[in-house]
Amino acid sequence: MNKTFIPARAIIREIIRENDQISTFRLELIDKTKPFSFLPGQFLMVSVPHCGEAAISISSSPDALPLIDLSIRRAGELTTAIHSMEKGARLGLRGPFGKAFPVEKFSGRDLLFVAGGIGLAPLKSVIDHCLFQSGLDDDAVSGIRLLYGSRSPSDIAFTGTIGLWREQGIDVRLTVDEKDEHWTDHVGLVTELLEDITLDSNSISLICGPPVMIRSVIAKLTEMGCDDTNIFTTLERHMKCGMGLCGHCHLDGRLVCLDGPVFSVSELNTMDVMELSR
Ligand SMILES: Cc1cc2nc3c(=O)[nH]c(=O)nc-3n(C[C@H](O)[C@H](O)[C@H](O)COP(=O)(O)OP(=O)(O)OC[C@H]3O[C@@H](n4cnc5c(N)ncnc54)[C@H](O)[C@@H]3O)c2cc1C
Ligand code: FES
Repeated sequence: MNKTFIPARAIIREIIRENDQISTFRLELIDKTKPFSFLPGQFLMVSVPHCGEAAISISSSPDALPLIDLSIRRAGELTTAIHSMEKGARLGLRGPFGKAFPVEKFSGRDLLFVAGGIGLAPLKSVIDHCLFQSGLDDDAVSGIRLLYGSRSPSDIAFTGTIGLWREQGIDVRLTVDEKDEHWTDHVGLVTELLEDITLDSNSISLICGPPVMIRSVIAKLTEMGCDDTNIFTTLERHMKCGMGLCGHCHLDGRLVCLDGPVFSVSELNTMDVMELSR
């Protein structure tokens, strides 16, 4: 796809309901003559005629191409319109845009993923890519752990994927803010799960979720001795062009669509991003 304002058309091949608010839309580009590739952490500008356009992270691995997954939480007009679509419907896509997670640095390292809610979407792309790579190369990654927080048990998304990850040896720990009568796992903030974790100095941590969660996880990881250069997160800004032209996503001298959305904490420390979002 070209980095232009003209979207390429994609068809919905499958819809996976992740929870009441989030569904994964499995897409395929209609015009296969134009090459398309991306890296985990990059996003697409997704559009529906007369409803608008929004940034959505790709939640599948590049290894799953030509299929492209977008896991979308119903928020406003556009995402509600997408949620009303069925298999066979069409969406517009521009991109991929933005800086990816530095997957080239992950070889032989322990990876800790910390996610809240829909924040698991971009991390899912990284995890699936790492699992694919480890099937090809024993040194691809050392160990993968995921700490995932949701408001309540019914808000947990990606349960099917989490089951598959556990079968493949990923240590997944879940927590909810409020339990129901069936919940036997942890109750409390995702940062509390970090209390039971040990990290070696070479580990890489990747965080995505609401700004308040990102802030407290970064603080805790720093307290645990993690180096700023080994912690990565994503920032969310409302985007218009997605490619560095309109300035809409400007944040303290950076354009989040070009310089991010993935940033290391060492980069964030040079910016005034107390709010970490919008
Ligand atoms: C890099 C990136 C990746 C993203 N990845 C995903 C993803 O994988 N899945 C996903 O579901 N979402 C993702 N988002 C968020 C998504 O782009 C927004 O939720 C988008 O606004 C939804 O569009 P909408 O038209 O449905 O809702 P909107 O009408 O945009 O409303 C969504 C919410 O944003 C508020 N809002 C709208 N405009 C503004 C504004 N100008 N300033 C402040 N608040 C505003 C609204 O009040 C409402 O609460 C991502 C955003 C970014 C920047
Ligand atoms: S969205 Fe236009 S410059 Fe970033």
